[in-house]
Amino acid sequence: MKTKLILSLALLCAFRTAAFSQETGAPVEASKRHDVNRLSKDYYIPHRFDGRTILITGGARGMGKWAAVRAAKEGAGVVIMDWLEDEGRHTADSINGFGGKALFVYGNIQKDEDCRRAVAEAVRVYGQLDYAILNAGVMDAVYSGAPFRYDSTTRRLMPAIITDATDEYWEGVMATNATGTFKSLRAVLDQMVEQRKGGAVVVVSSIAGMTGLAGNPAYVASKHAVNGLVRSAAIDYAPYGIRINSVNMAQTYTPMVETAYRFVEAQKKAGIGFGMGDIKTMSLMAYCDSQHRGSYPWEQASNMLYLISDEASALTGSIIATDGGWTDY
Ligand SMILES: NC(=O)c1ccc[n+]([C@@H]2O[C@H](COP(=O)([O-])OP(=O)(O)OC[C@H]3O[C@@H](n4cnc5c(N)ncnc54)[C@H](O)[C@@H]3O)[C@@H](O)[C@H]2O)c1
Repeated sequence: MKTKLILSLALLCAFRTAAFSQETGAPVEASKRHDVNRLSKDYYIPHRFDGRTILITGGARGMGKWAAVRAAKEGAGVVIMDWLEDEGRHTADSINGFGGKALFVYGNIQKDEDCRRAVAEAVRVYGQLDYAILNAGVMDAVYSGAPFRYDSTTRRLMPAIITDATDEYWEGVMATNATGTFKSLRAVLDQMVEQRKGGAVVVVSSIAGMTGLAGNPAYVASKHAVNGLVRSAAIDYAPYGIRINSVNMAQTYTPMVETAYRFVEAQKKAGIGFGMGDIKTMSLMAYCDSQHRGSYPWEQASNMLYLISDEASALTGSIIATDGGWTDY
């Protein structure tokens, strides 16, 4: 059994070396290769959300911010809820600055009262809540606004394999990703049911909610929990005309992923072998693209906004891989 495992690992490593040594990725004639046509970061659909209200958790920065900006350009009144006060206010101000409608609500999705306050603000200011993008999430138990440090204090809060993982790491990640998503979803659904106008929710999960990943068990478990919530809520709220789906991306260029790069680098320097991001790191897109790229936050914002819009009226309970083919193989 042990020999079989070692042989499989050796084969995997040999395959990786061979595949990665090809300058252009997959074995296709250079003259025939083409990158995926990219969505422009300025693209939007005018008036798609005129008169609609969208709550976006974690909208201060990263892909939540891109979703907030684009939703506002498309006519929505946007409520940004985040525990990063300065960045959250800045994002809302910049939306109001170009003539969009946005307000910022400071809050932690781990707290029921904060989630309910954000929903109440949406209703107070815009009259109703039509959609929600539950995007706030963490990769570790370090506060999102803290500068990256890899020392004995912060390491306790960071990803590690189960036997090295601390309670603080596990509880911190679960408290935001699993429990916080539950509490924000509950507050949103309460309002939508009361309104009797239907609605749509997109939960931002991850490839880690569809498959295992090396070195970050709490993240994987919490994102599976989130996808379980989506499946179960889609059933329970279908009679109310509320659609609930999740998007599941691989590497997307945001502050979270920048921290992840630094963390993996620090782990390597510390000699931690089987760390986060080992074994498999590439989506089909990253493998084949001439720049070996991940996805851009505006591409993910586009997926989220499509799913809440009426264009996706036949979609509910779906765990959608917006991952450039990461989970395809
Ligand atoms: N970037 C990636 O490669 C990637 C891949 C898969 C999934 N995701 C998921 O996408 C979502 C957005 O991540 P991102 O990459 O834009 O990261 P990010 O760190 O740039 O943005 C996340 C936002 O959520 C906020 N937030 C976190 N916990 C919160 C809490 N308890 N209460 C209120 N706000 C909170 C942060 O302050 C931040 O503004 C997350 O759920 C993340 O797990 C990201």
